[in-house]
Amino acid sequence: MTRLLQVTGPDDPAIREAAMILASGRLVAFPTETVYGLGADGLNPEAVARIYAAKGRPATNPVILHVADADAARALVSRWPAEAQVLVERFWPGPLTLVLPASEAVPAIVRAGGPSVALRCPAHPVALALIRAAGRPLAAPSANRSQHLSPTRAEHVASSLGEAVDLILDGGPTEAGLESTILDLSGETPRILRPGPIQPAELAALIGPVDLWEGAVKAGTRQAAPGMAERHYAPRARLELVAPGSGLAAASGRVAYVALGALPHLPGGVRGILLPLDAEAVGTRLYALLHELDDAGFDCILMERPPETEAWLAVRDRLRRASAKERP
Ligand code: TXA
Ligand code: MG
Repeated sequence: MTRLLQVTGPDDPAIREAAMILASGRLVAFPTETVYGLGADGLNPEAVARIYAAKGRPATNPVILHVADADAARALVSRWPAEAQVLVERFWPGPLTLVLPASEAVPAIVRAGGPSVALRCPAHPVALALIRAAGRPLAAPSANRSQHLSPTRAEHVASSLGEAVDLILDGGPTEAGLESTILDLSGETPRILRPGPIQPAELAALIGPVDLWEGAVKAGTRQAAPGMAERHYAPRARLELVAPGSGLAAASGRVAYVALGALPHLPGGVRGILLPLDAEAVGTRLYALLHELDDAGFDCILMERPPETEAWLAVRDRLRRASAKERP
């Protein structure tokens, strides 16, 4: 059995124990405000290699380094643009990941051999306390098998990774429920590689025009950023996005119908689930709901397509990926 320890706050003795496990090059899953991360000493290539093995993650997909503050981030980059400074003053600690040119301090395996590094300072008190106790940046992708749903609860980590993780710190359900916004500042124009809890308009208000990588909005675009595989974040059940009340005739097996704002009349045997028409609330709930429906053995999940507004960008992105057909 994987060890799971409840953590009540930043002073919990479990954090010291977790830091010792990290120092010995092994893996600790921990809560952040977005999803649970699978952490390793980010300056120890062998420890980071264990992350790739545990997740079954392709070596071409780099990982995020989690830091305690902006000073720690600056030590890991070869250039710290003015935009980075402005953004971290406003959004760190928080769900914003910045991609910047890496310094020589960053092991190649963290970058997947590329020239840049992704950096984030998480807002969760347990995550911050763990980074401080470890005394170094923590490499941490989401704590799930590659291409599976991200975990928003400690139990999701245990069922996805099992024995591959040495310790899971259980800090309860995560708050935002969707992964951080990733902004690439290593090129000419700032570019969002992955939409998340921080909106494009919030970034643009501080640093001017921000591009949205088209793979983040459109289906079928080629993979321009590492790890942005079209099908990702996927439940086992077939997920289809539908207009309110439709799709039911074609659905087979055990069917769940997820409505936004109002539940339409459903045929007998179809399980109806009502979510509020509120992007933030749906973001918080989405992965946990898909995990629950998978565990309950549903074959088909019909979910109403969310509005096309910017507030729903991150939710639409994850739903589009989760409903994409398997790649060959
Ligand atoms: O909210 C989050 O960001 C969570 C928590 C644990 O912090 N982490 C997370 O990590 O979602 P992961 O590995 O599941 O997703 C990170 C994404 C990957 O798609 C990866 O390809 C991309 O970030 N990435 C990492 N380093 C990069 C780099 N140098 N350039 C471009 N993309 C990068
Ligand atoms: Mg992930």
